Amino acid sequence: MSWWREARFGMFVHFGLYSIPGGEWKGTFVGSHEWMRNNAKVPHEEYIQLAQQFNPTRLDVDAIVRLAKEAGQRYIVVTTKHHEGFSLFDSRHSTYDVMATPYRRDIMRAFAESCRRHEMKLGWYYSIMDWYHPDYLPRRDWEVRDATGASFDRYVQFMNAQLTELLTNYGEISVMWFDGQWESTWNHTLGQATYDLCRRLQPRVIMNNRVDVKAAGGDDRTLGGGMAGDYSTPELEVPARGLPGQDWETCMTMNDNWGYAKDDENWKSPAKLIGLLVETASKGGNLLLNIGPMGDGRVPQPSIDGLRAMGAWLRVNGDAIYGTEASLIDVPECRTTTRGREVNVLVERWRPGPLSLAGLRGTPRRALLLADRRAEIPLRTTPDGIALVLPDRPPDPICSVVRIEFEAPPSSRA
Ligand code: GLC
Repeated sequence: MSWWREARFGMFVHFGLYSIPGGEWKGTFVGSHEWMRNNAKVPHEEYIQLAQQFNPTRLDVDAIVRLAKEAGQRYIVVTTKHHEGFSLFDSRHSTYDVMATPYRRDIMRAFAESCRRHEMKLGWYYSIMDWYHPDYLPRRDWEVRDATGASFDRYVQFMNAQLTELLTNYGEISVMWFDGQWESTWNHTLGQATYDLCRRLQPRVIMNNRVDVKAAGGDDRTLGGGMAGDYSTPELEVPARGLPGQDWETCMTMNDNWGYAKDDENWKSPAKLIGLLVETASKGGNLLLNIGPMGDGRVPQPSIDGLRAMGAWLRVNGDAIYGTEASLIDVPECRTTTRGREVNVLVERWRPGPLSLAGLRGTPRRALLLADRRAEIPLRTTPDGIALVLPDRPPDPICSVVRIEFEAPPSSRA
């Protein structure tokens, strides 16, 4: 887990047949778009026609990997097969794959090669639930395709064969990110066996908690207690107090959809995105931030702009994010991260003058701005903790960072 704990920030990529309609089916939008087939109850025969249209000629995988680099993201997790059941890689075990489309190129190979070239860690998203495979059970309750003779055991064999391809044919894979594990046919024994299979194929791969069933009463935040999985995956939320004692990763959209959504312009601002990264890091978690390329492969411009803004901020302030640990204190004025003898104070709502870090204990040596390391910030110890005196102007309009160096690792008042 050590590289992953250091990394703090990754890119999620949702791409599939659903990216072509972008949520629009016969003139209507049906809500969360990679779920389109389900939400619009598209008949099997009609949906699979999308494969004949799949030709993302403007997909530039290397540019996506370079974008992640530029954004300061340290790993990429990409959908190899989403709930729709279509494989974006060359699979010997499925004819519903990218090789059966006009595009006819293995997109996962392109990711593997680019990531290797740019020293980017790569992970595979894989949906256990599969709306295409004839052996997958249960069927959607609206599905009319006959399920006579379907065998979930056979589906599991198919899935294992695909996982074997994904973990054998593409070099080192750092993460397996499972999803779609919540249906009645999945159980702990299968989850553990899947975990063990992936580990056998690649001893260093790490996996999210969705490989296993949710523990009774549990949710995406649940980890441990005999369940398989190395980290938990709160979705579209940053837990209020983090998840102390646990490795966790918030997965988050840049608008309101995972898959490309023609009708969704609700893009988060750079300030909001940087705030989310700061918040997850200060609570001890990772942020997996999603892009949903369009059907032709282009990345929506607002995603590019947002990621570049984050990268620009990280180039100055990245030391306050990468390799840090959760905040020792909880104060309303700012967030903090910790690393060894350093505390980074991340200030989004800058107010010149005293800033009190109540509860922080230790002997400070000095404080400086990450944006201008020669500029010392006055500080003093108070009965309460430590107080800084912020200068008139913040060096960054969105979030400025003051680093406090201590004589020895600081602590918080019990
Ligand atoms: C949910 C959705 C899925 C999405 C995933 C991302 O499980 O079903 O569409 O890919 O969240 O975390």
